[in-house]
Amino acid sequence: MRIVTVALCVLAAGGAGIGCQPSPRALPARPDSARLPGQTDDVFTTARPSLAVAVNDFLVRRPVPVQPIEFPHDVHAGRRIACDEYCHEGVSTQAVAGLPSLRTCMICHNTIATDRPRIQSMTAMRAAGRDLAWQRVFDYPPSSHVRFNHAPHIRTGIECSTCHGDIAGQTVARRNVALTMGFCVTCHDQQQASVDCQSCHY
Ligand code: HEC
Ligand code: HEC
Ligand code: HEC
Ligand code: HEC
Repeated sequence: MRIVTVALCVLAAGGAGIGCQPSPRALPARPDSARLPGQTDDVFTTARPSLAVAVNDFLVRRPVPVQPIEFPHDVHAGRRIACDEYCHEGVSTQAVAGLPSLRTCMICHNTIATDRPRIQSMTAMRAAGRDLAWQRVFDYPPSSHVRFNHAPHIRTGIECSTCHGDIAGQTVARRNVALTMGFCVTCHDQQQASVDCQSCHY
């Protein structure tokens, strides 16, 4: 779009030396993370780039994420490393659970299992200044305007597995539980937590 605008500008100016200002309506680009896959415009519309994307969205079918490394949750949980100890920090005090950087992994893997190929590839990545670009498994599209907060749930003693399933028994994390609105509201009803639309959507 910008290229077209610039091209038109250059044509309109016609080499007459007129300063060509960008359109005052041009908004700063939003970070890509705030966009739906394939969304090209900053204004949210129900339009989808292809019929296949529309059908998948409608049926809540999502591609299975491919992670940068096949992280074995089961091996780590089996060693009694708590979920929030190194990797998902902040989960009991904040809204969002952290995802670990390679630096966190290397706290242990600078010395643990350094003879294994996967650990060696992590060491090489770290030396090259690269990090692990985890793909999200549990998240909501911006269009559903859901604001989830981990902290109150962990404080009341709800287990990670209630909402995430048996990730401790798996290698890479899978979307084991469909975190639909019905799932949230059913428990809120039972436990007398808020079912106000605005506690989850704002
Ligand atoms: C608190 C220490 C600790 C942290 C942090 C940690 N690991 Fe591990 N990891 C271990 C232990 C212990 C093992 C088991 C080693 C063994 O089999 O002897 C292991 C095993 C592994 C293995 C299997 C190695 C193999 O091929 O047998 C992989 C892969 C791995 N870790 C990746 C990671 C990644 C990626 C991170 C960061 C997201 C990470 N680890 C963070 C302690 C840790
Ligand atoms: C009451 C349900 C619930 C409980 C309990 C819960 N989570 Fe979550 N978790 C969610 C929801 C919902 C999301 C997605 C939030 C979003 O995208 O805004 C999420 C996202 C995450 C993510 C980010 C996943 C991704 O793909 O980016 C991690 C990591 C996570 N949770 C870890 C934990 C851990 C560790 C525990 C236990 C200490 C836990 N959660 C307990 C509901 C829960
Ligand atoms: C297993 C039961 C359970 C599930 C599932 C659950 N919640 Fe909750 N939620 C609670 C309880 C209990 C509280 C109240 C905690 C407190 O009083 O501090 C709560 C509190 C909240 C709050 C804070 C409300 C306030 O008063 O500010 C939000 C927001 C929320 N939940 C959103 C969600 C969303 C979104 C989901 C679905 C992804 C979800 N919850 C799933 C039990 C649950
Ligand atoms: C306890 C949390 C919670 C409460 C309370 C709640 N919602 Fe939701 N709502 C959700 C979650 C989570 C989703 C996303 C489901 C998904 O993407 O699978 C959702 C999705 C929706 C959607 C679909 C949006 C989309 O495009 O996917 C609408 C519409 C909606 N909620 C309306 C409401 C209204 C109206 C109320 C009040 C009567 C309400 N919600 C109360 C958690 C909640």
